[in-house]
Amino acid sequence: MRNYRWAILGAGHIAEKFSESLKVCQQAELYAVASQSLDKAENFCKDFGFKKAYGSYEEMLADPSVDIVYIATPNNLHFEHTMMSLNAGKAVLCEKPFGLNKSQVDQMIRKAKEKKLFLMEALWSRFLPSILKVKKEIEAGRIGTPKVLQAEFGFKAEYNQNSRLFNPSLGGGSVFDIGIYPLFLSLYLFGYPTEIKAISIPAPTGTDMTTSILLKHKNGEISNLTSSFALRMETDARIYGEEGYLKLLRMFHMPTKLVCKIGDEDEIELPIHWVGNGYNYEALEVMKCLDEGLTESRELPFSFSEDLISLIDKVNDLIKNNL
Ligand SMILES: NC(=O)c1ccc[n+]([C@@H]2O[C@H](COP(=O)([O-])OP(=O)(O)OC[C@H]3O[C@@H](n4cnc5c(N)ncnc54)[C@H](OP(=O)(O)O)[C@@H]3O)[C@@H](O)[C@H]2O)c1
Repeated sequence: MRNYRWAILGAGHIAEKFSESLKVCQQAELYAVASQSLDKAENFCKDFGFKKAYGSYEEMLADPSVDIVYIATPNNLHFEHTMMSLNAGKAVLCEKPFGLNKSQVDQMIRKAKEKKLFLMEALWSRFLPSILKVKKEIEAGRIGTPKVLQAEFGFKAEYNQNSRLFNPSLGGGSVFDIGIYPLFLSLYLFGYPTEIKAISIPAPTGTDMTTSILLKHKNGEISNLTSSFALRMETDARIYGEEGYLKLLRMFHMPTKLVCKIGDEDEIELPIHWVGNGYNYEALEVMKCLDEGLTESRELPFSFSEDLISLIDKVNDLIKNNL
């Protein structure tokens, strides 16, 4: 096991949470922060204990000491910043959604393969012990054959046409931002759907505000998923099987409570344990893969990210056609 020098590209909200999580990863060295503003990078460095501050992304990428770049810019820039980082010879962990469409994701993956460099989408939920436990319990038959997933992710966002949530040029929309989590869970549990339906209510900017998606999967499972910037939703998920159900309680993409009910028995709580704020698990996966000389995660392979973005493409097409 060796140590890895991490660099943050884009010193915003999620970069702060991710940096906090690196502190609990033994192998991670909090090395560099790159921001469009040197002042901001310097303050970020001080706040989180990084060593180097850069006032441009390009300068940071030219630093040969940087091993891994974590891309935390708005959705519309993931493609450009991933390509820049790979071209600079860095391993990359890029925030979700990986790209704005399948074509971008395909090009990013092709570039990583061509450069023989590690690349992974920062779908942190995939590595959380509580999500792994849900998958294990279902595969072990705890609730019998799973049949229906209901999952929703909603909060009341302050409307601002320029924010990354609503601005189309920044890749705004509830599906890209939070609907990706119910879609992730559905794909993870039931695989790529055979039927896809979606309806949506747009924000004044034209990006999707509230969207409901219905999926049918190959073994007859149904996913019923909603995302919204207009409603404070429970943000729980429920998986109903022939013998019982499992609930992933607020918030389901980082479940802090798992509840199970079998037949007429009382609900029981399943114990879950984790350390850090949760983002550490995806960072650990990156370093584990690099230790093993891998350029692609076995746990979150390119094919999963390709399926996820294909699904988002289809949902976005259906939404556009309905408007
Ligand atoms: N995994 C999760 O739980 C999670 C949670 C929230 C968000 N995210 C993802 O993380 C990404 C960033 O979200 P965030 O909430 O951290 O956003 P944010 O607070 O707005 O930060 C984004 C950063 O990107 C940089 N940036 C570069 N060009 C920009 C531009 N044209 N407009 C705005 N910012 C620009 C800025 O950093 P500098 O000025 O320092 O260069 C900015 O601070 C999104 O893709 C989002 O989907 C993931």
